Amino acid sequence: MNLGVNIDHVATLRQARLTQYPDPVEAAGICMAAGADGITAHLREDRRHIQDGDMEALASMDLHLNMEMAAENEMVLICERLRPAACCLVPEKREELTTEGGLDVASHMPRLKSVVGRLTDAGVRVSMFIDPVKEQIEASRAIGAAVVELHTGHYANLTGRARAEELAVIADGAKLAADIGLTVHAGHGLTVENTPAIVAIPEIEELNIGHAIVADAVFKGLVQAVADFRAVMQRR
Ligand code: PXP
Repeated sequence: MNLGVNIDHVATLRQARLTQYPDPVEAAGICMAAGADGITAHLREDRRHIQDGDMEALASMDLHLNMEMAAENEMVLICERLRPAACCLVPEKREELTTEGGLDVASHMPRLKSVVGRLTDAGVRVSMFIDPVKEQIEASRAIGAAVVELHTGHYANLTGRARAEELAVIADGAKLAADIGLTVHAGHGLTVENTPAIVAIPEIEELNIGHAIVADAVFKGLVQAVADFRAVMQRR
């Protein structure tokens, strides 16, 4: 199972003081050396964390880069130019703290199909960040996306029985997506504590994890934080 480390919040710390440090590009190298399979970074329209120069530098590194972005023309043009290995299309609202829900692919199929087509033509593997529901999974397939990243944020925020029910929804979604030929990823809100149950879903091939890794790194360092996630992602 692949681990994509999202380094946005290294940049959040830098932007809090508008300093040159900590450098998310340096963090990317440390995460890769510590066992990450790739790096994810989200260039937001409001540039609240990752900046254009960060994305350019990441794209020039010898690593698997997954560029997260809204399906807006400004971002599509940047992605076509930088040609990262992968791109994950996410919904974006200016006032949100983080990506709050999945992309509503089913309601915007013609526009998203054109974006997926442009990026795929540029050699970028496109993934749709969606809630694990049938309608969105099938719509993602229909518009030509290669990958779906199932939103685990609701699962992460729930407890007890409600969490178990959401886990079952994610497992069913993963199976459906794999059955219709999509590669399945998952992410959002994952911690060392709640990740093992997601790892147990066999169709999920990659996790994208950011906030918890950077938060853990404050106490134990980035290398150990990545290593601890790697350890809970081992499949038997
Ligand atoms: N996957 C997607 C599509 C996201 O938007 C995010 C947050 O940027 C993540 C994964 C990582 O979520 P977290 O920071 O909660 O681990």
